Amino acid sequence: MSSAQNTPVPQPEPRPTPPPTWADLLGSVPSPKSLVAHLDRHVVGQQAAKRKLAVAVSSHFRRLADGQRCGGRVIGPDPLDDAPDLIHVPIERSNLLLIGPTGSGKTLLVQALAKALNVPVVIGDATTFTEAGYVGDDVENLLVRLLLAAGGEFGPAQRGIIFIDEIDKLRKYHGHSGMSKDPTGQGVQHALLKMMESWVSFIPTKLGPRHPEAETVPFDTTDVLFIYGGAFPGLEDIISRRLGRDAGGFGFGAATDHAEVEGDLLRHVLPCDLEAFGMIPELLGRLPVIATLDDLGVDHLVRILTDPANALLKQYRKLLRLSHGADLEFTPKAVQEVARMAYERGTGARGLRAIVEQVVEGVMFEASEADRGQTFVIDERVVRGEGTTLRTPIRAVPPLRTLLRKRVSG
Ligand SMILES: Nc1ncnc2c1ncn2[C@@H]1O[C@H](COP(=O)(O)OP(=O)(O)OP(=O)(O)O)[C@@H](O)[C@H]1O
Ligand SMILES: [Mg+2]
Repeated sequence: MSSAQNTPVPQPEPRPTPPPTWADLLGSVPSPKSLVAHLDRHVVGQQAAKRKLAVAVSSHFRRLADGQRCGGRVIGPDPLDDAPDLIHVPIERSNLLLIGPTGSGKTLLVQALAKALNVPVVIGDATTFTEAGYVGDDVENLLVRLLLAAGGEFGPAQRGIIFIDEIDKLRKYHGHSGMSKDPTGQGVQHALLKMMESWVSFIPTKLGPRHPEAETVPFDTTDVLFIYGGAFPGLEDIISRRLGRDAGGFGFGAATDHAEVEGDLLRHVLPCDLEAFGMIPELLGRLPVIATLDDLGVDHLVRILTDPANALLKQYRKLLRLSHGADLEFTPKAVQEVARMAYERGTGARGLRAIVEQVVEGVMFEASEADRGQTFVIDERVVRGEGTTLRTPIRAVPPLRTLLRKRVSG
């Protein structure tokens, strides 16, 4: 090795980055409309929840921008130059609660949001929390995970988003006061409350069970946005009772009626209903925005199968293409039938994958290289398990090797 190779290349001095202008800073905050447009590409329906989520998140980023006002960290004309009375008005956080039936898209909304925003997001499950943190996923481990999601950088981590799913599982059960420790109840709600306060938590530097001598670092949660999600089964009855209606009198026989009435009832939710459900008022008091998701009807399920960027049917088409260059087609009636069956299972869009998996299993197993250029057509009878998959005539599609060679040479 020559000595020239060993000589370190002189690096230019890193230039200090100039502070951002107000126009840059606020211009980089996504507008609620742009967020909804992004969410529309991934999540079918749920327009009311999308709007609330988008407004809350956009406001969160504006609040963070405003927080940089101290110490002259932002330059240029200030939008508050002509409203000096507003300069010292603190903007409070708009933490959010997503309520909706299972499989209606709560987690998906947050995941899609995380993709749109360049901020670290962690998704935690309230059912794994314990008060003491000796077992399972400690509440504070969420902060460690947020730090990891931010590549270990405290700045971005402390402005990230924490989504805690299954919050309804922490409901306070009346009459369980005899239990010395209730890891799925009130105690964990209090632990979450503490984390949501503007406080500095000393978090362990490693994930896992808490060790008394473990090294800890301070993590300030003032600027973290908290989103909670839960299905809250039975909440409609509580709302219905409060509204003085009898849910049984709505004629739940027809499937569409059921979805409509349930969705409608959830939209009337008030913090007192959630308190009656078993959530502590202190926690509810810190969740000023409540967004409700509707039960997905058959039409929504049809769109979920075909429309989103990663729609299930596109995924299976791709799988078949990748393995044997064959194509897969569901007739409109077949799609409708899958959606109908999933609706009957009552698990929202969750039921779709299992049904499609079952329907295409035969094709996926049997397809071979001899099927290149073939389209497997699945109709409603195949979905119901009453017919066999049809095959269209083979189109002339060059073998994979030729395609790859073309791509390399081109
Ligand atoms: N509105 C929707 N649009 C597109 N896909 C959806 C929608 N709702 C659910 N899905 C799909 O269904 C599956 C389950 O959705 P998700 O995990 O978001 O449900 P959830 O509301 O969080 O349910 P749970 O209460 O059980 O946690 C995911 O694969 C998701 O892609
Ligand atoms: Mg979920």
